[in-house]
Amino acid sequence: TAPGGGSPLDRAPVIPVVQLPEDVEPAQAGREVATALLAGGIPVIEITLRSEGALAAVTAVRELVPDVLVGAGTVLDVGQLEAAVEAGAQFVVTPGTTAALRQALTDLPVPALPGAATVSEVMALRDAGFDEVKVFPAEPLGGPAFVRSVLAPLREVRVCPTGGITAARAAAYLEIERVPCVGGSWLTPAELVRTGDWAGITRRAQHATTTLGS
Ligand code: 3PG
Repeated sequence: TAPGGGSPLDRAPVIPVVQLPEDVEPAQAGREVATALLAGGIPVIEITLRSEGALAAVTAVRELVPDVLVGAGTVLDVGQLEAAVEAGAQFVVTPGTTAALRQALTDLPVPALPGAATVSEVMALRDAGFDEVKVFPAEPLGGPAFVRSVLAPLREVRVCPTGGITAARAAAYLEIERVPCVGGSWLTPAELVRTGDWAGITRRAQHATTTLGS
């Protein structure tokens, strides 16, 4: 993606990863969560395709909260990828990258954040032309020390570590060169979404932007 352009990695120190509980109205909840994050200074959201209605939530955020860049996450195959773009996703995130996904992501009209868990996987993505990658699952893989080691030989790749990262752990990743942000669900836990605690989500977002930079 172009420097300073629409890369999701440059919006905030955290890409909030939202999994909508099954018992909420997805479009309304998506809109409320995005609005709450924006109020806390975070103009980006990744909605995972792990719940019924996730695509409806993507569309709602795209149409009703235009200041928030909305992406679709947990994209596992080409069918989901096409559905996500059709729904209005402005970027897509995958947990790992199959050969079929890698090809399809190359032709995508929106930025892609393909997932990788090893040096070889990051190298394969680099060969395919990607310069931004999601390292997943970051904490079980070894945390900041692992990410630093992966990046050492790969000079032009930027990464967004995700997976098991908490408010307390995020700063250690952000100190690493070419880690502009991390991903994580700690800003938008299911309990706050289920109970409609939008102020609680705003507080968590504010805390993240205050402690990690905006
Ligand atoms: C993802 O899909 O990116 C992960 O599930 C992020 O969620 P976590 O912060 O809860 O690991």
